[in-house]
Amino acid sequence: MKETIEKSKAMVQHLAAVNEILAKNNHDPARLIAILQEVQEVYKYLSKDVISYVATSLDIPVARVYGVATFYAHFSLKPKGKHIFRLCDGTACHVKKSHSILNMLYKRLNLNDEKRTTDDMMFTIELVSCLGACGLAPVMVVDEAVHGQATPEQASALIDEIMAAEAAQTEKAI
Ligand code: FES
Repeated sequence: MKETIEKSKAMVQHLAAVNEILAKNNHDPARLIAILQEVQEVYKYLSKDVISYVATSLDIPVARVYGVATFYAHFSLKPKGKHIFRLCDGTACHVKKSHSILNMLYKRLNLNDEKRTTDDMMFTIELVSCLGACGLAPVMVVDEAVHGQATPEQASALIDEIMAAEAAQTEKAI
C-alpha cells in the first residue's frame, strides 16, 4: 500500500514537471520540438508515458509526437544515466585514439556497444560525430564540460570525481 502511494506521488510529480513545460509553451502544438527538448532536459529521455501525455495534452496524435521524437537524433527514447560521457568518434578524434578512452570507459563501467548505461543509472556513454573542435582531438564532453586532448586516465579520474561527489551527496542526505 505504502509503495503504491509512493508510486502515485512520484507519478504526480513526474507529470507536474511536464505540465509546467506545457503551460510555459502555451500548449501550442507548433512548439512540439521545444516542448520535447525541455521535457528531455528534465528526464534525460522521453518515456512512452510522457510521449502519450504530451500528445493528449496538445490534442495531437501520439504518432506525430513519436514521429518527431524518432526523427531527431537528439531525442532519446531510452533512459539515460545521470552523468553522460559523450565521446567524439569523428575522424580527427578517431586518429588520435579516442577508442582507447572508449575501451577504458567500457571496462571501468562494465559497459559495451550494446549496453551503454550502467545498471545504477549513474553513467551513460554516447558516441557522437565531430563536435567541431578537431584541433583539441580527442574530445570528450562530460555532462556540460568539454575536455580536449582527453586521455583514458583523465576519463577515469573524472569517473572517480563524479562518484566521490555522488557519495558525498548521499551522505549529506542521510
Ligand atoms: S572529429 Fe572530434 S571534434 Fe572533430
